[in-house]
Amino acid sequence: MSPSLTVRRIAADQGAVFRELRTASLREAPYAFGETLEDALSADAATFDATAAEHAVSFIATTFILYTEGHPAGLVEAYFDDTAARRAFVCELWVAPAVRHLRGGELLVDTASAWLAGEGAMEIYAWVADANRNAMRFYEALGFGPTGEHRRVVRAPEQAESLLVRHVPTTSQVFQQ
Ligand SMILES: CC(C)(COP(=O)(O)OP(=O)(O)OC[C@H]1O[C@@H](n2cnc3c(N)ncnc32)[C@H](O)[C@@H]1OP(=O)(O)O)[C@@H](O)C(=O)NCCC(=O)NCCS
Repeated sequence: MSPSLTVRRIAADQGAVFRELRTASLREAPYAFGETLEDALSADAATFDATAAEHAVSFIATTFILYTEGHPAGLVEAYFDDTAARRAFVCELWVAPAVRHLRGGELLVDTASAWLAGEGAMEIYAWVADANRNAMRFYEALGFGPTGEHRRVVRAPEQAESLLVRHVPTTSQVFQQ
């Protein structure tokens, strides 16, 4: 039987869980993220506590955690950038290998997108490394498409990443489905 997957917004006292998931994601999939495992391991535990406390209540940035049978098994961050356009992003998406292909990633991205839409977003953006074909196919399967915007990966400047976007359906589009 498939394990049941749920997603909840991070709580203020979940700094240790946040640190555990971040380091697990950077250890397992270092190619997928801008930060390195060394960065995360050298950061003070208080930094994770502070982020969890902020993300539990902020209207600008948050983290959602995936649980399988009550155990933390993945995460995604959602935030608005500080440009005039106030673009909405999902990032730092990771699902533990043991529970992949069970729609946990989709649940995380959809929950994060719904939160961003609730705060006013009309489009949801995601930067994906061109070499990360799995993530590309994952985002495309969820309806994200290319914006045509590209940039160098800071951690590995010889590599490129592309900006993808998905439009938030309007109420009338939802009723047409
Ligand atoms: C990308 C990732 C989050 C997907 O998580 P997941 O829970 O396995 O994905 P889902 O089960 O929700 O997949 C939804 C759909 O995306 C597509 N998809 C997911 N993983 C895929 C893969 N490896 N290859 C091709 N398509 C894939 C499929 O269409 C899938 O639907 P299906 O299972 O009915 O075919 C996960 O593989 C992961 O954590 N990878 C390492 C970290 C990473 O690359 N993060 C993204 C950074 S941009």
